[in-house]
Amino acid sequence: MIYTEIKGTGSYVPSRVLTNEDMSKIVDTNDEWIVSRTGIKERHVVTDEYTIDLAEHASKKALEDANVDPKDVDLVIVATVTPDNAFPGIAQLLQKRLGLNEVMCFDVNAACSGFLYVLNIADKMIKSGAYKTALIVGAETLTRLTDWSDRNTCVLFGDAAGAMVIGTSETNKIKDVICGSKSDDEGMLICKGVDTKDPHVNAVSTQDHIHMNGREVFKFATRIMPQTIKDLMERNNMELDDLNYIVAHQANARIIDKAARDLKYPMDKMFMNIQKYGNTSAASVPLAIDEAIKEKKLKKGDLFATVAFGGGFTWGGALIEL
Ligand code: UT7
Repeated sequence: MIYTEIKGTGSYVPSRVLTNEDMSKIVDTNDEWIVSRTGIKERHVVTDEYTIDLAEHASKKALEDANVDPKDVDLVIVATVTPDNAFPGIAQLLQKRLGLNEVMCFDVNAACSGFLYVLNIADKMIKSGAYKTALIVGAETLTRLTDWSDRNTCVLFGDAAGAMVIGTSETNKIKDVICGSKSDDEGMLICKGVDTKDPHVNAVSTQDHIHMNGREVFKFATRIMPQTIKDLMERNNMELDDLNYIVAHQANARIIDKAARDLKYPMDKMFMNIQKYGNTSAASVPLAIDEAIKEKKLKKGDLFATVAFGGGFTWGGALIEL
């Protein structure tokens, strides 16, 4: 039996900060509305950086934290819905920037649940015996897809990257990872790709923006987050009391609060950094895990659950001993 563990974590946010006060100069909004409805106070946004830059910074920190030589990484998977190109992917671009060997590198799109998806894939690839050390990354510049005239969505998002090195372990630390999806065929949370073009007309493609039915997404999120945690507990014959902490996707403080109430789990054991970053999509979970570790809210030997939901619709959860 091959076991896996987290070897190290890292994260990075661009330096430019947009406060709620700044947002109120862009759209008809105010600090009181944003804080009371979402918990967000500010977000970091890119100016001249791209997703690859954020991914590179976070990855270097995770490799250093893990004390792993880039030449020992044999698998790289990046979760992103904001790759800089259709191809090459962020994972392949990272290869050169980090000085990796010619190993398997690819991107995955599962929106805000993306990091749980890449954790699931990498964990199972290592447990198969085919790979030993994986760099997994969630990196997003979602503000590039934001409609800055839509107050319903533009106040919610920020840019960031989080990375993790996972590898083989003597004991069973990454205990379980589960993922699921359900077609959002009505487009409750959608950003369209490029339209079909008539090749006889040299039509210029335009980039779509994020469209969201906030209430429907809220309903989905508050159902799936507690359900995923309960599934993890049941599958592993554990009780919520066995957990030292829950690190949930940071989409809305009210969603995290409702999940905690439904689970009857104390709010002070739910990690929260949404006030500083907003919703950073696939970067949200690894950024939160990295901060929870660096702030010593998660310590060696602690057992924690992590959970996310997102566009697709997708969801995922993991049960991990640090
Ligand atoms: O990773 C997945 C990403 N998405 C999510 O997680 C989003 C999930 N949904 C939510 O977080 C919430 O639904 C929102 C924060 C998006 C919205 O909160 P809400 O309590 O569901 O508000 P609402 O959409 O019902 O809107 C209430 C009012 C509306 O005005 P009227 O129609 O009642 O007059 C909106 O126009 O608030 C208005 N509103 C705003 N007002 C000031 C919407 N956005 C803003 C804003 N500033 N930024």
